[in-house]
Amino acid sequence: MNIYNLIDDICQGYTPTKEEVEALLCTYEPSYNSYLFSAAQAITKKYHDNIIHIRGIIEFSNYCRCSCAYCGLNAANKKLKRYRMEPKEIVETAKEAYDAGYRTLVLQSGEDLWYTREKISEIIKGIKSIGDIAITLSVGERDYEDYKQWRKDGADRFLLKHETINENLYNKLHTHSNLENRIRCLNNLKELGYQVGDGFMVGLPGQTLGDIAEDILFLNRLDVDMAGIGPFIPHPHTELKSAEAGSNEMTIKAVAITRLILKKVHLPATTALWTLNTEDGKKAFDSGANVVMLKVEPYKYRRLYEIYPKNLGNENSIKQERLRMEELILSLGKQVAQDRGDSIKFLEGQ
Ligand code: 5AD
Repeated sequence: MNIYNLIDDICQGYTPTKEEVEALLCTYEPSYNSYLFSAAQAITKKYHDNIIHIRGIIEFSNYCRCSCAYCGLNAANKKLKRYRMEPKEIVETAKEAYDAGYRTLVLQSGEDLWYTREKISEIIKGIKSIGDIAITLSVGERDYEDYKQWRKDGADRFLLKHETINENLYNKLHTHSNLENRIRCLNNLKELGYQVGDGFMVGLPGQTLGDIAEDILFLNRLDVDMAGIGPFIPHPHTELKSAEAGSNEMTIKAVAITRLILKKVHLPATTALWTLNTEDGKKAFDSGANVVMLKVEPYKYRRLYEIYPKNLGNENSIKQERLRMEELILSLGKQVAQDRGDSIKFLEGQ
C-alpha cells in the first residue's frame, strides 16, 4: 500500500477501509506524518478558510448518575465535592460570555436528573433571550421526549461522544449502560434535527489501532457535524488510575485522518490535548482542528469539574481568557470566527 497515494485519494473523496485507516495510524515515519498533517491542513484551509471557532463551555453540574470507569465525575467517587449551578446563575454566566464575544455556548454536566426537562428548557430560553447564541447541550443520555422538547425550545446542537466503538470495551467501561443505547441516542438526536457532535477517546486501556480506525469510520457513517477526539487521561479516583495515558501524537493523527475523510466537520483541539501538553493543542490547529472550547463558569466550579486531572493556571476574566486565545490563534496565522459557527453541512441543508 502506498501511503502517499492513499492520502491523495482520500483528499479526492475516496473513503478508506478499516485496514487503510489502520495503516495510516500506525505509520511512524516522520516524512509520512508531515505529508498527512499538510494534507489535513490543506483540506481545513479549503473548507474552513483557516478560521478557528472559539466556543464557551459552561460546566454547570458535576453530579453524575453514571459510573464510567475513566471519568473523575463517576458516581462512586466520594472524594469529589459536588456542585450544581442554579438556572439563574447559568444564564448570568452566559450573558457574561456573550458580552465577551462568544456566539456558541456548550452546556455540559454530569448526568444529573436534578435538571429536569423543565429546568433545562428554562435555561435554554433564558440564554436565547440574551441574543443570537447557538446552544450546544452536553448532558448525556436522556429520554427522546427530553431531547425533543429542548430542540423545540431552541437548542441547536448536542454533544454526545460514542467514546469507543468497540462494543466489548464500551460495555466494560460503562457498566450502567451500553453502546446500543448510546447509538440509539445519537440517532434520535440526528432525527430531531440537532447538529450532532460525537467523538471518542484515544488510548483507552485495551483499545487497539483497529478500534480507532473503526471509531473514525463510524463518525463518517453517522455523518456527524462535529467530532471531539481526545487522549485518555487517568484520574486518581477511578479504577483506571494506574493505566497509561493515551498518546497525543496518536490523537493528532486521528484528528488529521478524520479531517481528510470528513472534510466539512468541526474538529476541536480538545481540552485533554492541551492538558497533556499546550504545544500539542497548537499543533492540532495545524493538523485539521478548527475549534477550541474554553471554560467560562466561575473558577470555584471549574476546580471541581474534574473529569481528569488538570492545571487551571491563574484566574482571569472570561474576556481576558478569550482575548488570550484570540492572540494565540492570530499568532498561528489563523483567524477567529465572528459568527455562531454552525455546521457547514447543516447550513447547506437549510
Ligand atoms: N480522560 C480523557 N477524556 C475523558 N473524558 C472523560 N473522562 C476522561 C478521561 N479520564 C471525556 C469523554 C467525555 C468528555 C466530556 O470527556 O470523552 O465524553
